[in-house]
Amino acid sequence: MLLERYLESLGSEAIQRALDLDAPRPALVRPTQDPKFGDFQINGAMPLGKELKKSPRELAQPIAEALAGVDAIEKAEVAGPGFVNIHLALPWIASKLTEALRDAARDGVPRVEEVSKVIVDFSSPNIAKQMHVGHLRSTIIGDAIARILSFMGHDVVRDNHLGDWGTQFGLLIVGMREWGDENALQATPIPELERVYKLASERAGSDEAFAERARAELAKLQSGDDQNRALWEHFVEVSRGTLEAVYAELDVSFDVWLGESAYHDALPGVVDDLLERGIAREDEGAVCIFWDEIDGAPKALRKQKTPFIVRKKDGAFLYSTTDIATVQHRKDHFHADRALYVVDNRQGLHFQQLFAVMKLLGTDMELEHVGFGTVLGNDGKPLRTRDASGHVITLASLLEESKQRARQRIDEGVAEGRLRVRPEEMDEVSRVVGIGAVKYADLRQNRLSDYQFDWDKMISFQGNAGPYLQYAYARCASIFAKGGVDMDAIVASATITLDAPAEQTLGKHLLRFTDVVYQAGATSQPHLVCEHIYELARAFNGFYAECPVLDAQGATRESRLGLTALTARQIRRGLGLVGIGVVDRM
Ligand code: ARG
Repeated sequence: MLLERYLESLGSEAIQRALDLDAPRPALVRPTQDPKFGDFQINGAMPLGKELKKSPRELAQPIAEALAGVDAIEKAEVAGPGFVNIHLALPWIASKLTEALRDAARDGVPRVEEVSKVIVDFSSPNIAKQMHVGHLRSTIIGDAIARILSFMGHDVVRDNHLGDWGTQFGLLIVGMREWGDENALQATPIPELERVYKLASERAGSDEAFAERARAELAKLQSGDDQNRALWEHFVEVSRGTLEAVYAELDVSFDVWLGESAYHDALPGVVDDLLERGIAREDEGAVCIFWDEIDGAPKALRKQKTPFIVRKKDGAFLYSTTDIATVQHRKDHFHADRALYVVDNRQGLHFQQLFAVMKLLGTDMELEHVGFGTVLGNDGKPLRTRDASGHVITLASLLEESKQRARQRIDEGVAEGRLRVRPEEMDEVSRVVGIGAVKYADLRQNRLSDYQFDWDKMISFQGNAGPYLQYAYARCASIFAKGGVDMDAIVASATITLDAPAEQTLGKHLLRFTDVVYQAGATSQPHLVCEHIYELARAFNGFYAECPVLDAQGATRESRLGLTALTARQIRRGLGLVGIGVVDRM
């Protein structure tokens, strides 16, 4: 259940009733700073003082009395200048947890009342170039956000907006004819395309006739020449194969792959429209939007000296032009209410300008740049995607290394008797742990900050790391295996009660799950889910140290097994919402 929303409605009714007002007022519910003072605090009396000409403390008194009579609340007391501190009633919490335990399909998390159509634009690498670590972040974060929003009940379209159209293709076409190696293109397409691209762009720098040929091939491609079109399709297809392998390893999928090329035909119309409406104007043959000339421009952009260019003087369209056409397509074709762009912080200015243009065009859609920071190496500088000898570190090799390192750690754990993995399960467990570790190390961070890539911290069964949480899950599951108890039977029959302090701490934490998921979805912050799961694993450890489970008797045993099952399910669900898998045994 959505706890804070429920308390908000209880609180605002209580305010209306207690103060005899014509309409409910916001209760302003906040979690308390210190559990000593209860679980939540209601601040709604504070702003009413002036209006009702009484001190907030005087107003808070009848509010507290009105709340004290409610099922969910055990105690409500006035504190400070006029807050009401509330202590939730343990039997009420327990009954909500029992309800969540029964709800195997959703673990007590309701669907949103208002469904939005949301486009999540993520991963979106440039083909013919190596996917770099930034694209890995976009892929992992975007996938987590899409999973959270769909679970909430939103209608999500996952779009891989490939960079598959642009000046690089003219160079690639002439370059491939000159230096291309078809076998290499089949076997390792992206490195081969990169190699050829490098040669071609170097040549174009010094040889004007070559550069001219590349431009001519590009123009032919863009005007639909069959032969060039076929070449381009070939580049896209082989690159896509490499990408698909990485996505399969990461368990990431897309509903559509609408790359930049998909919008080619719409681009002239975009520019004409901007010119006609006086949003853009010509300048030395190029078509640009000058922010300091636009009345309705956002303040932050008015000082922006460099214009937003939508057509170059040679007639070529740009990233900006395709992005405008893309928003329009998302509105017209998908009827999207929102679009989230999961893209590196460094493209902030591009999106700021894009969104401002869409506003000037009157597009009715919520557009958000879901930015993220840089991955740093242990030298504190942006992680290099090349090793010391200049070889490209591909994403595929990074994931491979993670699986190998996970396997090593698991082998050690097995040798020391800490972990139990059967030889025939080793491949699967190291895959789930290795991939999960890379994802978790990224997702546990507030996405806006940079973070340091550190194999040892990442693949750890102790600290705040993926393997630790997967282990916590497996341990819950193992309690059932050890006691020969069927988890489904407990799910169907156990009644949760909260007696011991460690049970209460665990129970209160479990109760917050829905709020966390909703907040993570509303703010595109998957790290909130990670934080919750980590704290949950710790609360469970505390509980397990204090409260015997299998050795308890009767209803207490059932309740504790119920708490264990609910914890297991919440860890699994939470990790699943950020795209991380679990195994039952390790
Ligand atoms: N291809 C771009 C890059 O690699 C990212 C595209 C993001 N999506 C968008 N609609 N602009 O930098």
